[in-house]
Amino acid sequence: MPGTSDSVKVAVRVRPFNQREKNAGSKCILSMKDKSTTIKNPDTGETKTFAYDHSYWSHDGYTETPSGVYEQESPSSQYTDQKCLFQDLGQGVLDNAWQGYNAALFAYGQTGSGKSYSMIGYGPNKGIVPITCEELFKVIGTNEDGKKQLRVFFSMLEIYNEQVRDLLLKGKPPHGGLKIRQNPKQGFYVEGLKQVPVRSYSEIEKLMESGTFNRTTASTNMNATSSRSHMVITIRFEQVIQGDSGQSNTRSSDINLVDLAGSERADSTGATGDRLKEGSAINQSLSTLGNVISALADIAMGKKKVLVPYRDSVLTKLLQSALGGNSRTIMIAALSPADINYDETLSTMRYADRAKKIQNKAVVNESPTDRLIRELKEENARLMAMLKKQGTGDTTDIQSMLADNQRKMVDMQMSWQQRLEQARQEWEKSHHIDGSVIDKEWMKHPYITNVNEDPQLSGVIKHCFSKKCTFVGRSGSEDAIQLRGLGIEPEHIEVNVDGDKTFIKPCKATAAVFVNGIKVHEQTQLKHQDRLKLGSASLFLYIGYPEERGNDGTTDTYDYNYFMLELAEHAGVSVDIATPRDTHHTDDLSHRVLFQDFVDLLPKLAEANAISEELKRYTKFEAVVRSEASHDPKGTAAGKEVIIKVTNNQTKKVWIWSMNKFYNRKDLMDELYLKWLDGYNVVTTRDNDPFWDPVEDIFLGSCHIMLQSIGYCAEVDEHFTLHNYHGKEEAVIHVQLLPCDEKGHALEDDIVMEPKDLLNKTLNFTCVISQCMSVRWISEDHLRGVECRFTLPFQKPTKTKTVWHKGYVEFDFRQIYKYKPVTQKLLDYLHNNSLVLELWGKQVSEDEQLHSDGMPHADIETGNTDILTQLKSRVQVEISGLEGNCLGGNKGIPEDEAEMLREECEQIRKENFKLKQTVMVTEEKLRLLEMRGGLKRVGNKDRNMGASKTASSQTGLDVDFAKALRDFFQEMKDIQNGFKEMREFVTSTKDKIGANGIRQSFENHEHAINAIDDKMTDCLASLKKSAATALRKSRSGPDK
Ligand SMILES: Nc1ncnc2c1ncn2[C@@H]1O[C@H](COP(=O)(O)OP(=O)(O)O)[C@@H](O)[C@H]1O
Ligand SMILES: [Mg+2]
Repeated sequence: MPGTSDSVKVAVRVRPFNQREKNAGSKCILSMKDKSTTIKNPDTGETKTFAYDHSYWSHDGYTETPSGVYEQESPSSQYTDQKCLFQDLGQGVLDNAWQGYNAALFAYGQTGSGKSYSMIGYGPNKGIVPITCEELFKVIGTNEDGKKQLRVFFSMLEIYNEQVRDLLLKGKPPHGGLKIRQNPKQGFYVEGLKQVPVRSYSEIEKLMESGTFNRTTASTNMNATSSRSHMVITIRFEQVIQGDSGQSNTRSSDINLVDLAGSERADSTGATGDRLKEGSAINQSLSTLGNVISALADIAMGKKKVLVPYRDSVLTKLLQSALGGNSRTIMIAALSPADINYDETLSTMRYADRAKKIQNKAVVNESPTDRLIRELKEENARLMAMLKKQGTGDTTDIQSMLADNQRKMVDMQMSWQQRLEQARQEWEKSHHIDGSVIDKEWMKHPYITNVNEDPQLSGVIKHCFSKKCTFVGRSGSEDAIQLRGLGIEPEHIEVNVDGDKTFIKPCKATAAVFVNGIKVHEQTQLKHQDRLKLGSASLFLYIGYPEERGNDGTTDTYDYNYFMLELAEHAGVSVDIATPRDTHHTDDLSHRVLFQDFVDLLPKLAEANAISEELKRYTKFEAVVRSEASHDPKGTAAGKEVIIKVTNNQTKKVWIWSMNKFYNRKDLMDELYLKWLDGYNVVTTRDNDPFWDPVEDIFLGSCHIMLQSIGYCAEVDEHFTLHNYHGKEEAVIHVQLLPCDEKGHALEDDIVMEPKDLLNKTLNFTCVISQCMSVRWISEDHLRGVECRFTLPFQKPTKTKTVWHKGYVEFDFRQIYKYKPVTQKLLDYLHNNSLVLELWGKQVSEDEQLHSDGMPHADIETGNTDILTQLKSRVQVEISGLEGNCLGGNKGIPEDEAEMLREECEQIRKENFKLKQTVMVTEEKLRLLEMRGGLKRVGNKDRNMGASKTASSQTGLDVDFAKALRDFFQEMKDIQNGFKEMREFVTSTKDKIGANGIRQSFENHEHAINAIDDKMTDCLASLKKSAATALRKSRSGPDK
């Protein structure tokens, strides 16, 4: 039957305010009239109106029934409830299915906008998917036509990071996820996806429950947020109609129900300005969907030669026919009503507007059953022939198609009853249905239940404490509860149940455990509805004994947002930006946006930090509020934004990232982390390393110098404190603005009484910036430098020279600024503005650290980082032992002697700190070399870098290695000198101390230091020897 052209139907729906929006006093910026929706720009008041096939108002005008169902408050209310939505959209899908058309329903929108609410629903407010299934079975139940057999199949999958996971299968999916194959007739399909035959709605409910459970565990284990994954539920509905002549006809319809990933980072604009623009695969399906929709809209508008990029992502491959093919398709765009989400909401509305232009050609899928079988047979014959022709080439695609066809033929020939029975047996096998499941443990004992960023996945997992003592951790040893996730230790917490009390205890000091936002170190009693955070990202709500639970079974209050606010508050966020809580919400929109950004960012930073730690990248991420006022000559600019300070603790390099850049990088880190979890070697080069960037200048702090005195020709000669964005002191700087004549000679007794006397005359002054003291930036790392930047009115921006390596900086800056003639504008400026003096941090690039000349080519036996690692840990152990002995064991020593020792220990500690720094810097240099040379770091633990080299870069590498080697020896010399000093110090101190326990301890440490020194000398000698051998080899050419 030829298809008629259908355009994609588009509906928008606006949800009520959520708690966070309510707390912040958000305003609704959407209004609806008939089919149109209007959005108002909260800054300008400007409005835009879009017409859709449906505009659903679910923002207000509703009441909650005692059973928790939201429905219209009064008949005059505009409110659209879940039932109305089904009647408008779901019913049409069902009707199409009965007629044999394929149908598809997408939910699009930013995270939290209500996609899952419309598709799946919450509690008694069931969404389109369950109602559609329920209605389908209701009608099936009324079928009395003996010649018509109705079959329903259910499948459920998730796409995350371009990998397909079958949600109806427990456990880990195969490496790389399920394969997508292409069949000439059928298009793209997922190889081996479970299609479960179902006979009732309750079976579908059970399957969905189990799918959600699998999705939740997978997302926690992988640290993947469901907001970046797509869920596709497919209901295949077949009607097999027996004809009079014994022939049968099969009419089939695939209903694809798609809950898309959050649209907030749908396009790659987030990566603008980032060196790594490629973006991660995590975003690929959603951004490709946008491109496909744009291309299809262009085609519908008559544009020629448009290539639709279906093949660019897994999602668009699978939905090819739903988009621009054989399907009747509906898109629901979910909208947030709040002013803070204006940008995202507008972009969703535009997206929906584009989608409604797409034209599909749906056809009825109906064929005689034997023809279907015949076609499959013919197809198989053709495939077999292809297979023969292909010979030894790659035939996996053909073979899998053959297998798929074969399976379909078997299925078609098997009776429906047989298939149902088979599915029932499989279900029972995998779910161990027996009495014990019914007897739910958590009804009787205290338990913890998961809280996910996605409310759909919250409360899905329950861990019960039915024994006196339970361990929870990654190892999941016998009798323990297994919990995987970022920062979870093999044994993380111990839970003890004593009578009617439950206690929790971190198993070790490094196991992060937070109760109600506060980090706990000791055994702590839990109360009903306490909030737990374990590791860096696992959240749980504790549910107490049945008696404690009372009637209030609801745990809705303690959602993800509640956890985040609580944690943010205890992390001191409210100090930086006032927390808009129920009591004092602010009207300032930008302030609320800032707060939202900040709170959203905190958990992501914690994850990034934990990933950095697991992958041993030594990089720390912190949120900082950048304030315009620090750069504004009036000092009043209110603009604020959240920026991310990134510090590499090894190289001491610092970067400032925008939020968008951080999110882009976070995706790439997630991807790297997933690979690592999958057991791959995570090798990064500078070209793809999300943790690395070239060095940049860092704003440290600024001060405001009032310019009014200049108007009076009075000098400024003062020390100013430079403050960073937090208001913390960064340095103190001496600045002089000295009125002078043309040549820079100081003016004498020439003070102007009124600035207006200067009008049309000449004004000259010298700006002198001499010293800058206590520069924190440099005292933290002596490899750094600083410079000053400022702009005087109507002059070009000025920079001082850069001064390196000293905490006490001499800028020696002196420059004359001339104004001739003095204008009113200048006088006004001087009266109202300040000179903003900014201090910028400079950093040496790793290349500069590495590159200097004059070293012969050499090859290097890698593996010396091991020496460094050993050395580092030895230095650590020795010194802490020394400290412990001196301070812990001072019984019987006079207090003043102990005090002296304490000071000396402090001295040693400082020396040690310096040594460690040198070791670390050397180590990082080697790491960088390894990266530059493309050497693979094997695994994350094994630091043996292997000695493979790429032939093409042989010479360059030799030079690099030679240089590194030279640097290494130089650094080593410093370390050895350090040891020498330390040894002398220990020896001389030892002599000063009388014969007591401490002397003994010093002697012990003297031996220890000597031993390390000897060992290091040996190491160096052997390194030198092997380097020399390698050098000789490399000179005499390879393979000799
Ligand atoms: N129409 C609605 N009526 C009432 N609550 C809603 C509605 N839409 C969404 N919500 C609520 O908003 C929150 C986020 O919705 P959800 O559907 O999970 O968002 P998404 O799937 O887009 O991330 C949920 O707590 C949900 O109950
Ligand atoms: Mg959702």
